[in-house]
Amino acid sequence: MIERSLVLLKPDAVQRALIGEIISRFERTGFKVIALKLVNASKDDAGRHYADDESWLKSVGDKTKKSYEAKGTPVADDALTIGKRIRQQLIDFITMSPSVAIVLEGHDVVNKVRTIVGATAPSSALPGTIRGDFAFDSYGLADVSGRPIQNLIHASDSAESAKREIAIWFRSDELCPYQRVDEALLYRKVK
Ligand SMILES: Nc1ncnc2c1ncn2[C@@H]1O[C@H](COP(=O)(O)OP(=O)(O)OP(=O)(O)O)[C@@H](O)[C@H]1O
Ligand SMILES: [Mg+2]
Repeated sequence: MIERSLVLLKPDAVQRALIGEIISRFERTGFKVIALKLVNASKDDAGRHYADDESWLKSVGDKTKKSYEAKGTPVADDALTIGKRIRQQLIDFITMSPSVAIVLEGHDVVNKVRTIVGATAPSSALPGTIRGDFAFDSYGLADVSGRPIQNLIHASDSAESAKREIAIWFRSDELCPYQRVDEALLYRKVK
């Protein structure tokens, strides 16, 4: 099914001059860029993007606890407390300097983009993924530094999240549908 994904190149990607490098990885896969801009996120944008949503906060905290526990380090704080702490760090981080907001469109784009992006912690993201190739940050290093994991990029985790997130970063008239030349081949019906 053709769907959309909201991708943010976070301040670490912009400050490290990796914008072109990262976008080219999506373009060469065949996904279509239908919206693109450099943006100074406001606290309000950031707070809506990293929503104060209990199930998301718990999922971020749970993933963190599992990562520590896999290394034999139990974490005393509950998942929600961890999630809330990380949300505040993310809001501070994403508002500190410009990000690039992108909407990609294509068949199964949400899952494929997350595969191209790689695991949350660059320290365990596979080579060949964006996070694995361009970063090495980890839960531990982020934690001792009191900042979010610098993993360069955000990508929507479902088609529903993408809809919600696209509406935060783009007005509807900023989305620019068009035809890529390879679409005639890719989406043609033979019978
Ligand atoms: N334990 C942690 N310490 C610091 N930062 C964290 C931690 N866990 C997650 N983060 C930050 O929060 C972001 C959102 O976490 P989430 O679990 O949704 O990861 P993701 O789905 O891989 O990344 P994203 O939502 O940004 O695409 C991560 O991209 C990372 O920057
Ligand atoms: Mg996520």
